[in-house]
Amino acid sequence: MKMLNFLIIIKIIYSIIFIEWVHCQCRINIQTDIAKNDPIFMTNKYQLMIPNGNQLTWKKNEITYLGCSEQRTNTFQTPKLIESQTTTSIKCVSDALFEINGQIFNSTDFECKIGITGDLNQTNKACAQGKGAIFEIGHDFRKSFNVFIVLIEVCYNMNTASVIYTQNVINGNASSVIESNRPTFKVNGVPSSVSPANSYMQTNQKLRFTTLLDNSSLADFYLNRTSYLARGHLSPDADMIYRSSQFSTYFYLNVAPQWQNVNAGNWYFIESAVRNKATALNEDLLIFNCVYDILKLPHNSGTLIPITLEDAGIEVPNWFIKIVLSNKLKASIAFVTSNNPFMERFTKSDLLCNDICQPTKWNTVLKQSADITKGYTICCNVNELRGKINFIGSEWITPNILNY
Ligand SMILES: *[C@@H]1O[C@H](CO)[C@@H](O)[C@H](O)[C@H]1NC(C)=O
Ligand SMILES: *[C@@H]1O[C@H](CO)[C@@H](O)[C@H](O)[C@H]1NC(C)=O
Ligand SMILES: *[C@@H]1O[C@H](CO)[C@@H](O)[C@H](O)[C@H]1NC(C)=O
Ligand SMILES: *[C@@H]1O[C@H](CO)[C@@H](O)[C@H](O)[C@H]1NC(C)=O
Ligand SMILES: *[C@@H]1O[C@H](CO)[C@@H](O)[C@H](O)[C@H]1NC(C)=O
Repeated sequence: MKMLNFLIIIKIIYSIIFIEWVHCQCRINIQTDIAKNDPIFMTNKYQLMIPNGNQLTWKKNEITYLGCSEQRTNTFQTPKLIESQTTTSIKCVSDALFEINGQIFNSTDFECKIGITGDLNQTNKACAQGKGAIFEIGHDFRKSFNVFIVLIEVCYNMNTASVIYTQNVINGNASSVIESNRPTFKVNGVPSSVSPANSYMQTNQKLRFTTLLDNSSLADFYLNRTSYLARGHLSPDADMIYRSSQFSTYFYLNVAPQWQNVNAGNWYFIESAVRNKATALNEDLLIFNCVYDILKLPHNSGTLIPITLEDAGIEVPNWFIKIVLSNKLKASIAFVTSNNPFMERFTKSDLLCNDICQPTKWNTVLKQSADITKGYTICCNVNELRGKINFIGSEWITPNILNY
């Protein structure tokens, strides 16, 4: 009898919790329940809301914030009630229903006039021993909420019109919105001495190589329909959750010239392996992406020439590097990819550190790491790499190495 009472009480408690869970909170699926031009969803502390899987959830009556873009005076398209505003607060009613001033709206009703593609804030902070300046890419709500939501921190060298490094987070618990459209790249922050939209064009790369190497058939060897310098993202589109945050990666500040075969080869394999690791760990991983050294190719006379897309800069890096840090495991690792797919072979003295892909098991997912045409890749102890690349901060050095 006692046992039966106990079970009944448990059942009642369970039902109450279950009813609370089902009916007294809001939940939306970011794949299906947000508008095409979705606003930024902010918590009551003005942070970006991070979904668990596909789901964003609210407690009943919880108040949170939505915003389009203040910098671009991008206001709401719908609902009509807030069409002149760039931000609003909403109160959770139930399911996908929210209240503004007593009126009830569905989550898909909240839509901006134009798609959000990110804002830029140039700070007065220096980086990389004074070589660079810190820029923040994210969402500017300083007028309404006194907050700039940072998605990517960029260290950029204004003198060479070249990125030095970027930092971002991969949210291990979150699914990403599936979006195949891409915005055009933005030049914000780039010095006016260069025009990357022109110099990345393949016809202009051919002219540049012909000038630099002093031989058009040499230029024809490096550049053709399949071999060219792509705009290689440092912080990748696919690390981001929302359409708006994916689109925020399309700043020239966040890219460097990378051979297309490297971009779609080992660099791409590293990016996906790292995202899979974040998902497996269910943890928010910190990511540092940098470039190092300038690619040099032989001039007609045989001398090695540093390659830049313009006289005023846009250096073609010799190395692309990604460092991954798990705070939970107190572990980090670096991936170092060559941006010279034309090398005949790599010897130990060409490399920046000792390869540890095998003992750390990353070789099980980076199966083509030794393929030079896809970007020769090794895995490194961050502490050892920092001996060569001194702008890597001490926060990336950990007691443990991050295994796959
Ligand atoms: C929200 O609106 C969409 C599109 O109008 C509709 O398909 C969906 O059923 C609505 N959801 C709710 C909870 O009202
Ligand atoms: C950029 O952000 C910093 C704080 O991170 C702020 O102090 C500064 O005023 C902002 N820059 C601009 C141009 O508003
Ligand atoms: C240009 O380079 C090609 C390939 O290396 C070589 O055969 C040719 O002689 C060079 N042309 C001149 C004018 O030096
Ligand atoms: C393009 O150039 C690359 C690098 O020299 C070469 O491997 C490839 O075969 C060329 N492709 C075509 C279609 O000519
Ligand atoms: C992800 O989910 C797991 C299990 O549900 C939880 O323990 C962990 O704290 C979550 N991580 C983040 C970053 O939210």
